[in-house]
Amino acid sequence: MTKTAPGLPDQQPQTDHVRVGLDAIYNWNYDSEIDSLRNLYANALDRQWIALKDLDWSKGIDREKFSQTFSVAGVPLQHTQWWKHLDPEKKWKVASKTTAFLLSNFLHGEQGALMVAGEMVNAVPHMDGKFYAATQTMDEARHVEAFAAYIDLLDEVRPIMPSLKEILDATIGCEGWMHKAVGMQVVVEGLALYSFRDMRNSTREPLLKELLTYVSRDEARHCAYGVKYLNFIISTLSEEMRRELEDFAFEAARLLVASRAGGARESMFEAWREAGLDPMEALTAIRDERETVMRDVPPEGGAAGPIRGFVIPTLKALGLFSERIEGHYRNLFAESMGEERATALQFGWELPEDLEEWVLSG
Ligand SMILES: [Fe+2]
Ligand SMILES: [Fe+2]
Repeated sequence: MTKTAPGLPDQQPQTDHVRVGLDAIYNWNYDSEIDSLRNLYANALDRQWIALKDLDWSKGIDREKFSQTFSVAGVPLQHTQWWKHLDPEKKWKVASKTTAFLLSNFLHGEQGALMVAGEMVNAVPHMDGKFYAATQTMDEARHVEAFAAYIDLLDEVRPIMPSLKEILDATIGCEGWMHKAVGMQVVVEGLALYSFRDMRNSTREPLLKELLTYVSRDEARHCAYGVKYLNFIISTLSEEMRRELEDFAFEAARLLVASRAGGARESMFEAWREAGLDPMEALTAIRDERETVMRDVPPEGGAAGPIRGFVIPTLKALGLFSERIEGHYRNLFAESMGEERATALQFGWELPEDLEEWVLSG
């Protein structure tokens, strides 16, 4: 529901409300109970950074490098003749507006993460978990700050994709901290980590690369928090509770697939139109150069996408990918890619052991 927040003066911007559901939990034991989380907290304290000081904002965006290494969802359009022959000003406009749209959704996701990390301080039962969530809250504030500053140099902040908003609402609104951890640390941050890695590897724009390097290091830790904490707890759950978490994860993944299949494309085309590019004309030109485009797309292993390539391996590692739910995922993929391809799909990817090393590689 969109309205002005109660108690705020009229000149406040429009805000959006969603009800938080959680029980705040005290823990009177201050000793460490889950060492791996306490270590992660210590690591987070050691690696704090300041967005406006540690990144070099002085040179702004290198427009040429930015436009030269423009790719959409891992598809390197910059290698086509069509792209090479576009007027440089138009190239910059298309690349900057499209990237502003992608980064805006990263930005809104970061705001969601900021709020959920703050909730986790209240909701998790272990002191180690509360300490860690406090550092994540700080990390997410810095990410919101950094992405907003970069978008400001590019274009303007664009609206959140409805399906991302739905996942964030569901994660903020649900009561259980384990559900929040699955929705945020596993699904939303899994998507973020995978997408940041893709973008970091494809761009040669120095400031964006530096920003994504800093942010990705933090995100690797956030995913590790979810994996370590949930691993500690899931083996103690009843089958009924485990199943409920598994269903919750599936529902969030379903929304991710929906956003990738539908809305994202239309919003991107809108950005192209604003930049003076006819999307249909562009698609035809790209199709004519299919071979050039596909030559640089990594083979199947690298193109699994965030759900098969990262979210599902995480769920598998947590024991939230049973045979029952695998059937649901197959049906989901069948809807977006067709029955035949979905039946042949393998879910063989493993969660990388060292997430930081993985996110900064490739
Ligand atoms: Fe973040
Ligand atoms: Fe995060």
